[in-house]
Amino acid sequence: MSPIETPFLIRPATGDDVDTLLALWEIAAENDARPVDTREAVERLLERDPGACLLAVLEGGNDPIGSIIAGWDGWRAHLYRLAVHPEHRRRGIARALLSAAEEALVEHGATRADAMVLSSNTLGRQLWSGLGYTEQQEWRRWVKPLELRPR
Ligand SMILES: CC(C)(COP(=O)(O)OP(=O)(O)OC[C@H]1O[C@@H](n2cnc3c(N)ncnc32)[C@H](O)[C@@H]1OP(=O)(O)O)[C@@H](O)C(=O)NCCC(=O)NCCS
Repeated sequence: MSPIETPFLIRPATGDDVDTLLALWEIAAENDARPVDTREAVERLLERDPGACLLAVLEGGNDPIGSIIAGWDGWRAHLYRLAVHPEHRRRGIARALLSAAEEALVEHGATRADAMVLSSNTLGRQLWSGLGYTEQQEWRRWVKPLELRPR
């Protein structure tokens, strides 16, 4: 039996979505080897760039079943937190989220988008390669933790 089609919409996240978004990421997102998500971090993102976080929601519903962050810093475009609720996977939701994110980034002037993908995330690797992304072999990311300054 083929899965029932799920009509969904893509819309920007707002401050009202922070709790349900954090709940979605807990069950749906890639959560290893990365900073922990916090309410404050999502609020800071939405304050700085209100259009950066896109959500997939079921038609007639409000809670997110999918998400992506399209980060544009004026120089480069980075994609984060692409995640789809396990009950709604393989129905083109990630494809639609990514397409909307790429469209927004192109509008900003971006000529390339990238995503950090854990080497061990087979599903993630299948997704990115299925949607036209290729792994860069010649670069390694160098990182240093910074101390959070309270507002
Ligand atoms: C990866 C993830 C976002 C995919 O979401 P999704 O809505 O199921 O993906 P889509 O249905 O839009 O699939 C788009 C393409 O990705 C690839 N893909 C997605 N899931 C796949 C799977 N289980 N096996 C193989 N290819 C897959 C296919 O190329 C697919 O295109 P197709 O359906 O035409 O074959 C989802 O599985 C998820 O949230 N995983 C956990 C979080 C995660 O790893 N995110 C990526 C972080 S780097």
